[in-house]
Amino acid sequence: MKDVYTFADLQHWREATVGVQPPIRLSVFGDPVAQSKSPAMHNAALAACGIDACYTRLHICPDGLAEAVRLLPHNGFVGTNVTFPHKTAMLALMDEVDEYARKIGAVNTVVVEGKKLRGFNTDGPGIVSAVRSEFSVDLGDLRIMVLGAGGGAGRAISVQCAMENCAHLVLVNRTFEKSKILAEELQSLFPSRRIDAVTWDESQLKSQLGQIDLVINATSVGIKAGDPSPLPPSLLTSRLLVYDTNYAAARTSLMRAADEVGARSANGLSMLLHQGALSFEIWFNRPAPLEAMRAALEKAVT
Ligand code: ATR
Repeated sequence: MKDVYTFADLQHWREATVGVQPPIRLSVFGDPVAQSKSPAMHNAALAACGIDACYTRLHICPDGLAEAVRLLPHNGFVGTNVTFPHKTAMLALMDEVDEYARKIGAVNTVVVEGKKLRGFNTDGPGIVSAVRSEFSVDLGDLRIMVLGAGGGAGRAISVQCAMENCAHLVLVNRTFEKSKILAEELQSLFPSRRIDAVTWDESQLKSQLGQIDLVINATSVGIKAGDPSPLPPSLLTSRLLVYDTNYAAARTSLMRAADEVGARSANGLSMLLHQGALSFEIWFNRPAPLEAMRAALEKAVT
């Protein structure tokens, strides 16, 4: 089996995967996708449950996304995960979208049912479990800042924070307009919540961060191991909790910035684990083997 298959492979799937055992029935679509640790986690889960299938990476560019997803039923797939930058675009390509994924506005899990494609989102519940497991706190008790609130992951996390009734939600995005629209939308869905959008400039962020408990980085800054920190240490304080949804390194640049000021931080492996476990449960309608998945992920990043 190759580490990464391409759109061209998907178009000639039988030839591209000849001799691959167990057969590939699941994947993650992304661009880039080589960094994804989902195969390690899901292949461990499939083996632990004795399911005769394996999971791979598919490098799909935005202009090939619609055709690629339509090739899944034809090629015997059970489903796929969806990562950067396809989560929002995938919504419109589904035959049916789960109500929660529609509210989130993004799909990270696709299920193939006959010729039909059904879309789900497990990122939101994934962040709830991740923050609880990393910091022993619930989103509902916190004042939260989401960086990258205009992207697919950031939107899912922001909607989930509002649903969890967090004490204050501050949405930040490089393109301010996107976080402003999301803040307005969430405010109308949840009128009693305190929700603000602020521009991404240091003085704004500094004054907001003084009244924040948890910062979540949902930007793609950190997706590659050499990426800089989206926030300089000078904006952080020791009492902040810092969650980076990226996991290219055991300690991402943002986590190292948090270390400099003595703030507690975690990378996105726990969110990957919990959203992955929920995807597995959607595909196979059985509990996911969480410990086998966690062990495989930890091995994959060291
Ligand atoms: P995903 O589905 O993984 O969330 P996405 O929808 O493409 O991916 O979103 C990427 C997010 O990272 C966006 O919020 C993007 O900000 P813009 O909306 O302004 O594009 C953010 N992002 C990407 N590069 C960034 C950078 N250099 N600085 C700050 N934010 C960045």
